[in-house]
Amino acid sequence: MNKIPIIIDTDPGVDDTTAIVMCMASEKLDIQGVTTVGGNVELVHTSNNARDIIKLTGRTDVMVAKGESKPLERELVSAAHIHGEKGMGILELEKSKKSFLEEHASEFIYKTARNNKGELRILTIGPLTNIAMAIQKHKDIIPMIHSIVSMGGAMGVGNVTPAAEYNIYADPEAAKIVFDSGIVVTIVGLDVTIPTIVNREQNKVIRSMGSKVSKVVADLNDYQMDKESPYNPAGAIMHDPLAAAYIIDPTILKTEKYYVNVVCDNGLARGMTLVDKYRLSKKEPNVYVAMEANNEKFIALLFGLLHTYCEK
Ligand code: BDR
Ligand code: CA
Repeated sequence: MNKIPIIIDTDPGVDDTTAIVMCMASEKLDIQGVTTVGGNVELVHTSNNARDIIKLTGRTDVMVAKGESKPLERELVSAAHIHGEKGMGILELEKSKKSFLEEHASEFIYKTARNNKGELRILTIGPLTNIAMAIQKHKDIIPMIHSIVSMGGAMGVGNVTPAAEYNIYADPEAAKIVFDSGIVVTIVGLDVTIPTIVNREQNKVIRSMGSKVSKVVADLNDYQMDKESPYNPAGAIMHDPLAAAYIIDPTILKTEKYYVNVVCDNGLARGMTLVDKYRLSKKEPNVYVAMEANNEKFIALLFGLLHTYCEK
């Protein structure tokens, strides 16, 4: 089986952690590296967390390249109230001593895209700053990237404001650059992620798997569930893990292609993804939008991948 070359661009992050451990466990993926961005918490923490999560999975081969600490044109709006001050809830992971790659995330993305001759996938589970920067600096990168799967956006709901989802709200200018780039982009938004949860019972099963990884995932899920959530109180929401699952098994989501614009001004709708569902703008569709998720398949995939850590 030819493995799929992939970079994970992330700001861990409670749910980023589960997404990363899923990817690290998948036999289908050839992880070329992890790039970090300031988002949920500051870059220093997202970068250290990414390294520590990789250590937890035992993947000594995967390196981290640090990216931008701030959005392209704005100050960072973090989500530390959701993810904890350092991004891992109240957990302290065992520290990795591995060094970071010297190159900036955007240069690492460019170099890796060039090396993979049109086959590179990018999973983005944080603000899109690094990807937009790579596109701005290296226009020839566009045909080199096979596709981008991005946790972000929504059709008419929000989780930071009534209009906007966090990853897009944090850096709307970057999202617009990526969506309009001509690269094949799929957004996995709140419409499909909020109903995709791990509930208390399922989390007990995860904990009972007994590996270090499953304990961390179960602790982070409990951390999420112990907070009052207006979104889906029935469980821990799997925003980033659902996007990761789609890269591993594309039958998990149904998508439709629409023209998606991003509100970049500072008004009430900042960061909103305007999905032209009824094709009123007459603009050429630019983004695949996740419309429906198969949650049973998602849970089966998640459990299967977590089980592999028990065998190690
Ligand atoms: C997204 O925002 C972050 O807080 C989560 O990690 C996820 O990537 C959900 O809106
Ligand atoms: Ca995230």
